[in-house]
Amino acid sequence: MSTLDEIRAAFVRDGFAHFNLAAHLPEVQVAASGLELVPEHAWSHIVKNHEGEFEYPLDRFSELAGHQRLAEDDLRAGRFSFSFERLNDTPANATILELQCMKGLLNSPAMSELLLHVTARKPSRIVQCYVSRFRKGHFIYTHRDPGQSFGVAVNLTRRWDPNHGGLTVILDEGGSAVRACLVPVAFQTLVFDTSERSTPHFVSMVSATPPCARMAAIARYDATVE
Ligand SMILES: [Fe+2]
Repeated sequence: MSTLDEIRAAFVRDGFAHFNLAAHLPEVQVAASGLELVPEHAWSHIVKNHEGEFEYPLDRFSELAGHQRLAEDDLRAGRFSFSFERLNDTPANATILELQCMKGLLNSPAMSELLLHVTARKPSRIVQCYVSRFRKGHFIYTHRDPGQSFGVAVNLTRRWDPNHGGLTVILDEGGSAVRACLVPVAFQTLVFDTSERSTPHFVSMVSATPPCARMAAIARYDATVE
């Protein structure tokens, strides 16, 4: 059984699988280079709390601070909430070549072929795409990604100390027992089912200012079953 067959077996069995994308698609290393140099104005901060979902440019500190406090209250109270930065695939960011290069890779025939092998589904289109960035205080509370066929998170973090949080924790169907805990490692790629099975997961709060940003390319795919 090849490594890809083993990854596919894990996806079929568990509803998620993780592997090193660079081992199968070395081009990801080129596509990822330069993302840290993207100008700050292209990034936004997205926060979800019990008042709603808010996305602002990074320079609107005062409004963001208020939403961040409410999101942290929700985290403590066990309510769905999140806070992180992202480089979103918006019309305004159509000229950000580094983002378009990463999206191009996620949309490429080679990536589609790989995802077909892993999921037994043929990607038809990317429904949503962005690069996330987690700094101190950022987190995503336990959730199940809705709709589409499957989601992909390609980690782009160069160096990470797990003591700083930012861990991706995958839970069982009931949302209580831990099935996997992923430390951010460059090019580690998580593929998870969002159609037939839900995969509850969260990103633990980053508790210290990390020396390297915790970044990941996120894509949600529509696909047809082969
Ligand atoms: Fe998610």
